[in-house]
Amino acid sequence: MNNTIKNRWRISRTIAAITIAICGISPAANAEQLSDAQIEQKIDQLLNKMTLTEKIGQLQLRDWGMYGADKTDQLKQDIREGKIGGFLNVNFDAVAGNTIDDLQRVAVEESPNGIPLINGQDVIHGYKTIFPIPLGQAASWNPSIVKQGARIAAEEATSEGIRWTFAPMIDISRNPRWGRIAESLGEDPYLTSVLGVAMVEGFQTDDPTRRDAMAASAKHFIGYGAAEAGRDYNAAYIPETTLRDIYLPPFKAAVDANLLTIMSSYNTLNDIPATANKKMLKDVLRGEWKFNGFVVSDWNAVLEMLPHGFAKDAKHAAELTANGGVDFEMHTTTFEEHLPQIIKEGKFTLAELDQAVRNMLRVKYKLGLHTNPYTREGRENIILSESNLAAARQAARESFVLLKNDNSALPLNKNQTVALIGPLANVPHEQLGTWIYNGDKKDSHPFLPAIEATLKDAGKVIYVPTLKNSRDTDTSNFKAAIKAAKKADVILFIGGEESILTGEGHSRGRIDLPGAQHALVDALAKTNKPLVTVIMAGRPLALGNVLEHSDAIMMAWHPGTMAGPALADVLFGDYGPQGKLPLTWPVDVGQTPIYYNRMATGRPATDDNYTRMEDIEQGVFQHVPGNSSNHLDLGHLPQYPFGFGLTYSSFEYSDIKLSTNKIALGSTLTATATITNTGKVTAIETVQLYVQDIVGSVTRPIRELKGFKKVSLKPGESKTVSFTLHTDALAFHNPDMQLVTEPGDFNLWIAAHAQTGLAAKFEVTEK
Ligand code: NOJ
Repeated sequence: MNNTIKNRWRISRTIAAITIAICGISPAANAEQLSDAQIEQKIDQLLNKMTLTEKIGQLQLRDWGMYGADKTDQLKQDIREGKIGGFLNVNFDAVAGNTIDDLQRVAVEESPNGIPLINGQDVIHGYKTIFPIPLGQAASWNPSIVKQGARIAAEEATSEGIRWTFAPMIDISRNPRWGRIAESLGEDPYLTSVLGVAMVEGFQTDDPTRRDAMAASAKHFIGYGAAEAGRDYNAAYIPETTLRDIYLPPFKAAVDANLLTIMSSYNTLNDIPATANKKMLKDVLRGEWKFNGFVVSDWNAVLEMLPHGFAKDAKHAAELTANGGVDFEMHTTTFEEHLPQIIKEGKFTLAELDQAVRNMLRVKYKLGLHTNPYTREGRENIILSESNLAAARQAARESFVLLKNDNSALPLNKNQTVALIGPLANVPHEQLGTWIYNGDKKDSHPFLPAIEATLKDAGKVIYVPTLKNSRDTDTSNFKAAIKAAKKADVILFIGGEESILTGEGHSRGRIDLPGAQHALVDALAKTNKPLVTVIMAGRPLALGNVLEHSDAIMMAWHPGTMAGPALADVLFGDYGPQGKLPLTWPVDVGQTPIYYNRMATGRPATDDNYTRMEDIEQGVFQHVPGNSSNHLDLGHLPQYPFGFGLTYSSFEYSDIKLSTNKIALGSTLTATATITNTGKVTAIETVQLYVQDIVGSVTRPIRELKGFKKVSLKPGESKTVSFTLHTDALAFHNPDMQLVTEPGDFNLWIAAHAQTGLAAKFEVTEK
């Protein structure tokens, strides 16, 4: 066994320790930073020493959770022999000893070349301090709060040894039936790009060698969110122009922000499994974008190419995956079992193998694992710290979207009796949402104590959950709910969906409030008391009678650990709502998939060019109701448009101005408008910039978001909001797949949401 490299890893660690001792740097000091050239040189040296087994070993990501403690000795032996590149789901155990460090010690001190493991986990919206689900965070339209959420998640997770997260999920999601929409940043490529980059920056920082930095993994590459019928794992069909203009831009933005890893997706894209999609992984990601991190397959996805009917057996799956451009095989071990033979048969070359290993080692060096392979200290002061909880509370406040507020039903008065009703009114677990691998309901701050603490002496709460959970159909407690409602000044109904109803593998065919919730709202409405509804859910829901009966509706998503205090803050007006929808909210499931940036049809619907189903006369001639693109029963408009959200104030948009009405390709224009707070309280408005390319060589969306800005205004105050727009931002892929801005006429709006706005026009001319 050659010990030179192993010693080198050890020596650099010792030097780092001495440096810390001499200079008095904190133990959290960054690892030795290497230039790109130094990293490549070190990798060359390693590749020269590594055996075939060790090289293939670097490409195996094992799922610790699948083995169990009784397999520990075997796993350690495999690490010792250089057969494992990293683990997912190794849990920190402060009592039994830190397993991550135990395993790492074997890798660094006993494996042939001392290459450290990379340990990953799904740290999606927080580690122990849980932030709102990503879709909720997206509703904040606030990159700094999103970045802070990722930063705090990384600080907590790295304090337990996890240096790699499987986030952000930046799949464009246009279908609320798809359960994973909860994990997404919504439907828009621009908003998803901005917020996805914020997450990458928060996790990785600008110096990933920091011991509190994690490698991010943008997922799922590619097209996973376009699953047909919103059924998870289903096939996706995406034309190349749409792929390049809608689905790929968030990934490109993340790659440009120094993203270290990417996860391929479970779906087939235009009939080719993403796990072995050479065109996407090699031509686009490596060729066009020059991505030099590693690509990890999704869990078990390699072998799932058998049921896909794409690989005939495990060996074939390994061959397709390796050639397709995946470097790191998650969970399954087809590389270990079959790559040696595949290489012998000349179906995958040694040079290609070295390239994959190089991608792996590069990320490990970039994370500084060569000098800091072990868990940093101080977790007791980091996890669930007061400042982390305060940040989670702020993120939750900013994520809430006020959808309706008739007669100023909100904010609530602190001196009244509130009947708190509904299956999600006080739910330490459900408030956390999907993918909380390390989150725990015992750390949750639920709503009941928060509202009790908020009410003043004259205020009182009567709590009757009525339904055991969101799916409960038992109506026997309705009487108690009605009794409570009658005694109260206002009913606060908190319903929606439990966290298990969204997330991976949890798609729904219906998107109403499940169980007896609609019936409960009907019953409550009969009391004629003011009704305030809070929806907690991982997707927009078809509101039906809830909309009709509620005086106010607040969308709260799944707000995380601090749901209770954050909701109390906003419902009682200590903090104003400011969230805006990161997706289009349908009237009912029949409108889905639904998104604002759709292509115009040849027969666009307007309010008055068709007749609604209930108004069509019997026996009328076929064309009389009007042939336009609509649903006779659901209309042509969504329930709420993309970008929509009310505040406790109101705003007036006026005086739109463009710096010029003609810009040459390669130049910039400035668009400004005045926003005035016409209400009675200070509030924050998210002002949005949209454009439309009126005629193109392929049809263009009716609107596209190109910018947004938040502005805080006191009552009566006006501010000018200004956006700059470069002609590059107008580019799209033409039929030859060239990214072009085509000269011609454009519409522009400065708007409160995607269905309104002050309009202007400009022309783009040749240079
Ligand atoms: C499957 C999911 O699709 C992916 O997002 C996740 O990161 C992996 N499992 C690992 O848990």
